[in-house]
Amino acid sequence: MEKIYHRPVLPIESMDALNIQPDGIYVDATFGGGGHSKLIMEQLGTNGKLFGFDQDQDAMANALQDSRFTIVPGNFRYLRRFLKMHAVRTVDGILADLGVSSHQLDEATRGFSYRFEAKLDMRMNQEEAKTAALVLNTYEADALQKMFSEYGEVRNSENFISKHCGSTPDKGF
Ligand SMILES: C[S@@+](CC[C@H](N)C(=O)[O-])C[C@H]1O[C@@H](n2cnc3c(N)ncnc32)[C@H](O)[C@@H]1O
Repeated sequence: MEKIYHRPVLPIESMDALNIQPDGIYVDATFGGGGHSKLIMEQLGTNGKLFGFDQDQDAMANALQDSRFTIVPGNFRYLRRFLKMHAVRTVDGILADLGVSSHQLDEATRGFSYRFEAKLDMRMNQEEAKTAALVLNTYEADALQKMFSEYGEVRNSENFISKHCGSTPDKGF
């Protein structure tokens, strides 16, 4: 059976919200398996354009073979800069399906899931230097606490850290 990379969420609602103009220029900021991009392409005319961004190199294999489509291997934080390079200054719609893809969770080696015995990696962009294991093993307790509380919304992060990590580096993750 073919492994599904990712199933797009809210397909009808997201296309309704984009209200695609056949000749418009669109951005899929989180291309992933290309599910949403394919839906956008179905509604684009011959002069329409779609740019698909993803910082995960694995997603590049899903690039759509269509002259109206451009895949961009990188973080969507550089969206404006990249579009400028393509002489695009305004777009008609941007879709961002934020979070991880099913592929990232299902691949043991990506280290996102605790369903598998694998190294804690969690890098969306595999070219980034810092893995989750490196962060947990080398950051000081107060930096970890701040991270869990601000980005992980862990209430009581002080107790969490002192229970699980102590304050010394190399906590053995
Ligand atoms: C939930 S999946 C999107 C799935 C996609 N809509 C589909 O139909 O297959 C999110 C994707 O966004 C990518 N991603 C997350 N943050 C990103 C960022 N800042 N820049 C570029 N890609 C990002 C992830 O690597 C992942 O592939």
